[in-house]
Amino acid sequence: MTQLPGLLDTEAIRKDFPVLDRLVHDDRKLVYLDNAATSQKPRQVLDALSEYYERYNANVHRGVHVLAEEATALYEGARDKVAEFINAPSRDEVIFTKNASESLNLVANMLGWADEPYRVDHETEIVITEMEHHSNIVPWQLLAQRTGAKLKWFGLTDDGRLDLSNIDEIITEKTKIVSFVLVSNILGTVNPVEAIVRRAQEVGALVCVDASQAAPHMPLDVQALQADFVAFTGHKMCGPTGIGVLWGRQELLEDLPPFLGGGEMIETVSMHSSTYAPAPHKFEAGTPPIAQAVGLGAAIDYLQSIGMEKILAHEHALTEYAVQRLQKVPDLRIIGPTTAEDRGAAISFTLGDIHPHDVGQVLDEQGIAVRVGHHCARPVCLRYGIPATTRASFYLYSTPAEIDALVEGLEHVRNFFG
Ligand code: ALA
Repeated sequence: MTQLPGLLDTEAIRKDFPVLDRLVHDDRKLVYLDNAATSQKPRQVLDALSEYYERYNANVHRGVHVLAEEATALYEGARDKVAEFINAPSRDEVIFTKNASESLNLVANMLGWADEPYRVDHETEIVITEMEHHSNIVPWQLLAQRTGAKLKWFGLTDDGRLDLSNIDEIITEKTKIVSFVLVSNILGTVNPVEAIVRRAQEVGALVCVDASQAAPHMPLDVQALQADFVAFTGHKMCGPTGIGVLWGRQELLEDLPPFLGGGEMIETVSMHSSTYAPAPHKFEAGTPPIAQAVGLGAAIDYLQSIGMEKILAHEHALTEYAVQRLQKVPDLRIIGPTTAEDRGAAISFTLGDIHPHDVGQVLDEQGIAVRVGHHCARPVCLRYGIPATTRASFYLYSTPAEIDALVEGLEHVRNFFG
């Protein structure tokens, strides 16, 4: 068995994830390499979800009965866990949403309805990058269309990094918000936050970071990032689907208007007007994803019991090994950085002129789950002149043997298509 320095004890960890024992296509051992799309869930999270429904289920912030109080304590306890996990200065800066897309849409809408000095209008500019997930492109396009603001973006270098050579022309005195991904879901690139934040701060623009592919894999410290907003989702970090997070700086959350109106986000309501509850509740209209938040809290406990630094080291070792092995597969082209130190554990590639959907299907027949397509980042495929990629992505339970299986599977794909 291949041993690499820095690997976690995957034999023990894999025992926590029941689905990893599954056979697929009758007798194939599952090789799950689609972790950038969603991670698997450990028993600890599954137990927290069923325990919540078996013992505590009630609506939060509304009841005086025991269950309502206990459910509220669990929901708000999950907020404390998130705040600690991301080193937020205050728990009130943690807003629960349903996913990272909703978090990013929330920021766009806060700014779209804001008064000065935050308001985005036809005299201002929004900056994104060409490597964004659609969830960090479309909300800004919608906002630009609605307000007349100009949408600008950083392009990409041939080796899959942000081209910041024209940073002073892209981020200008007119820029209101710069929103960019910390780790690309398609290229794997880890972006240079500091340089972008420094320029944004120079011109007084706000900064929003999409940390969806970072929060599951590395320590995330919102204070060190120096951003104004950070978005991520629970289901990629061992938590359930249906729960996302938006962290925002407290004074911004106090000043900015709500997006969704409804129950629990108000202070008072009359038939003529309403006043709003303080953040985070101002941004959490309606019954929130309670069980999902509790599940996310359990996922955070789980990840922290292993240690984010150790998870990062494990994935780093795996990624280095995978890049080395994949580069030896004839006709395989990695789309994104080929150095392991500045990339995450999602590796996209093409294989000669075999369509990625065919690659994915033949791998699937061997029990190997990867994602194929444009990965909700179609501009990246357009930039590199390819219709789609095959993407393998690793997590704390991934092993070198699974990378070996992927490489063997790709040999099989090449033989199959001659
Ligand atoms: N954003 C997810 C992915 O990259 C769904 O696959």
